[in-house]
Amino acid sequence: MPAVARVLSGIQPSGEVHLGNYIGALRHWVADQDRNDCFYVVVDLHAITVPQEPEALRAATLDLAAILLAVGIDPERSTLFVQSHVHEHAELAWVLGCFAMFGELRRMTQFKDKAHRQREASVSVGLFSYPVLQAADILIYQADRVPVGEDQRQHLELTRDVAQRFNGRFGETFVVPEAAIPPVGARIMDLQNPTAKMSKSADSPQGTIRVTDPPDVLARKIKTAVTEIPDLEEAYAGKGYADLKRDLAEALVEFLRPLQERYRDLATDPGEIARLLEVGAAKAQAVASKTLAAVYERVGFLPRG
Ligand code: TYM
Repeated sequence: MPAVARVLSGIQPSGEVHLGNYIGALRHWVADQDRNDCFYVVVDLHAITVPQEPEALRAATLDLAAILLAVGIDPERSTLFVQSHVHEHAELAWVLGCFAMFGELRRMTQFKDKAHRQREASVSVGLFSYPVLQAADILIYQADRVPVGEDQRQHLELTRDVAQRFNGRFGETFVVPEAAIPPVGARIMDLQNPTAKMSKSADSPQGTIRVTDPPDVLARKIKTAVTEIPDLEEAYAGKGYADLKRDLAEALVEFLRPLQERYRDLATDPGEIARLLEVGAAKAQAVASKTLAAVYERVGFLPRG
């Protein structure tokens, strides 16, 4: 591995950023900036695999960029951009789709979970082929490491398999990336339903702590949360859950306060966010277009002109 590793990760602009996203992924994105060459992408192409309102999606994309800047993604050190601004992702996804097998995609648990909640007639082909687009996001930057939560492990395995298959057929073309899944906090559970992961798309607003929730909302959600950790139960025995929950709510409010302040400041200047995203897209495209050109050459496409 080179002295400076290439890191890439993505997050969907669908629903609001929650504590699971932060603990499982975003805080590692921030830490990774110190030593690596990082690419972080707001994956709007992924978001439309389920129905979205156009104006809401546009607003959510900008809002998510503001949150990423507020949590500490530094556009001076990292390349922060929007997926649809770099058309090479979709083009590489097409090619990789011809090297991913139907049977492999059918086994993806995230697809099975999401498809299970809908009637077959309303499950889009995009939802099915989504992991191929994710593989393209990663491989097009020749990423060494991909910091993600536990729910993305299977998609990373598929990415590695597709990269190895392509390299085996055409010679070394892609770096085969490693998933970087944190030992603690890779699967934060829903506060109301502790057997389900905290999720942007799940219909559980009371069980999901958004990083932008105001203090009173945070306190209420913690107060009504289902408590499950035996050690904590013991430490607080006799004092009652009310004390535990009050302490936890206070800690959480203080923890999120600086992030929320930065977010409020950034949200007043959407023009500046758009400018930063444009700089990021240009940096990303310079890398992505090189990989795509190499892939087109390898598979045998006739060069233009
Ligand atoms: P997304 O948008 O669902 O989630 C963003 C990141 O948050 C992590 N995460 C969690 N971690 C711990 N506990 C939870 N309850 C929890 N919920 C979500 C996710 O694992 C993820 O790291 N397919 C991806 C986006 C994507 C991507 C990529 C990621 C598209 N292309 C390329 C990495 C590389 C997704 O839907 O993440």
